[in-house]
Amino acid sequence: MLYESIADLVGNTPLVRLRTGIPENGLRAYVKLEYNNPTGSVKDRMAYFVIKNALDKGELKKGDTVIDNTSGNTGSAVAMFASVFGLKSIITTPKKTSQEKIDLIRSYGAEIIITPTEASHDDPEGCYMMARNLAKENNYFDINQYDSQANVEAHYNSTGPEIWEQTEGKISHFVCGIGTGGTMSGTSRFLKEQNKDIVIVAVDTEGSVLSDYIKGNELPEPQLYKIEGIGSDALVKALHKEHIDFVYRVSDKDAFIRAREITRAEGIFGGGSSGAVACIMEKVAQDLTADSFMVGMFSDGGIRYLSKCYNDNWMKENGFL
Ligand SMILES: Cc1ncc(COP(=O)(O)O)c(C=O)c1O
Repeated sequence: MLYESIADLVGNTPLVRLRTGIPENGLRAYVKLEYNNPTGSVKDRMAYFVIKNALDKGELKKGDTVIDNTSGNTGSAVAMFASVFGLKSIITTPKKTSQEKIDLIRSYGAEIIITPTEASHDDPEGCYMMARNLAKENNYFDINQYDSQANVEAHYNSTGPEIWEQTEGKISHFVCGIGTGGTMSGTSRFLKEQNKDIVIVAVDTEGSVLSDYIKGNELPEPQLYKIEGIGSDALVKALHKEHIDFVYRVSDKDAFIRAREITRAEGIFGGGSSGAVACIMEKVAQDLTADSFMVGMFSDGGIRYLSKCYNDNWMKENGFL
């Protein structure tokens, strides 16, 4: 197969059977390996869709600058498509982002601004407001993945149809981490349109406000957590809660330990948020039978967390081992 551009390799990621924690009763549990995307995460779908759309509509042109805040994966995706399409990119990211991700973003040629991890959503020193303000002041194209409906549409157009086709319409349960909510919102809207009985399970982190929002509870004071990519300290517009049937929270420790177990037992090398999804797949699987077909999103790979959850010293220093 010949491809004319690396952009042609976005999506069409494989579904691989997951066995760790899944009862051996014929139940089908598969994970969607988003680390097979060109920059190694689900965010290639969003970045490609948003940037290509803006170029096609003339909202962006060669030489322009794009900006966003990110826990890292969007940064490498945006930086890569910026280089593919002749744009400049600026990425703001909190200090907790792994060094591997920061180095990756720089490798694609982006300018990167590190912000304090503890700065809140509304704090101008935090990565979210800093990106919004820089965009306004300098007339940059603001991707703003947290509020962008194009982020949701990217998954409605790609992730949802792929899963539907790959499972030949047999999917019964979809388990998905929520960061911006884009993956969950777009994919689950598509899946529910095909079959309204598909059960949508969202995965949040301990310390995030999203699960309380989804359940209609008063929002708690957000706490810091170590998992990258899922959870949020504020509400965002890409999260459409009407598609979600259940939401569960996972602790840092459980997510990291599970990601490591799966890598050792099955060779599937997911990141921390994949570990969180696998924990909830196990929980949901306990009540399922052979006629169920569960799909979980593994949004990125472990290679970018070698200095974190795959490092024994880091795990011990943080009390996870
Ligand atoms: C590692 C990882 N997992 C899960 C997600 C969640 O995806 P979304 O932002 O579409 O909710 C992200 C998003 O950045 C991520 O980087």
